[in-house]
Amino acid sequence: MQANRARYVIGNWKMNGSQQHVAAFFDRLSQVELPATEMVVCPPSIYLSQAAQILKPSSQIKLGAQDVSAHPPGAYTGQISASMLIEQGCRYAIVGHSERREYNKETDADVAAKFLAAKLAGLTPILCVGETHAQRLAEQTDKVVVSQLNSILSHHGADVFEGALLAYEPIWAIGTGLTATPEQAQAVHHLLRETIGGYDSSVAARLPILYGGSVKASNAAALFSMPDIDGALVGGASLQAEEFLAICESNK
Ligand code: PGA
Repeated sequence: MQANRARYVIGNWKMNGSQQHVAAFFDRLSQVELPATEMVVCPPSIYLSQAAQILKPSSQIKLGAQDVSAHPPGAYTGQISASMLIEQGCRYAIVGHSERREYNKETDADVAAKFLAAKLAGLTPILCVGETHAQRLAEQTDKVVVSQLNSILSHHGADVFEGALLAYEPIWAIGTGLTATPEQAQAVHHLLRETIGGYDSSVAARLPILYGGSVKASNAAALFSMPDIDGALVGGASLQAEEFLAICESNK
């Protein structure tokens, strides 16, 4: 049986969707009885206020951003501050997604600054870590994910992970249709929890750790059955309301 931790399914729409898609998706979700799991949707930031208006603050479904600025409001062209996201009805922010690390050249230090800015402003940060295929083949997975985690943990301790979320997203599994096996994912989740446990065992025991990488309704239940997998960060499959709901159903 699973530990007594909050369970999450978080949809990351990436740069997909439209006003019409937002309306159809959230209308559909507001018509059904929702499964008893924490549900978060991260549409492109431009659609946050539209989604928030459909959902209302009392909704079980919460909104997240796919990124957040490390800075308070000021002269940072194109960026969005944590306070602005909160004003739009946002409660969560993904930080350190591998696509931002790769395409936007975000370093561990950038990711740490975003994590702390989100936390300080009152957003729940979702820290993503994960290895490339070459790193897995070279048996570097453990070293890579622990070093990504340590860029925050070793400087700021375990306390900053209280009320945060962690996501293990092997890069080779993102958008490829390849999923880590439940055993592969469990091994990394366990390592991440142990690493935090080296600083504070109760923070580690409470921290939800989500798996991401080609999660869909057909493979979610097997992943969710593992003791250290508390939910999923879902990309492609989170764009379809029925598929997203089915994944949430299997994480009750
Ligand atoms: P995917 O994306 O589910 O489309 O593989 C996962 C992610 O990037 O969070």
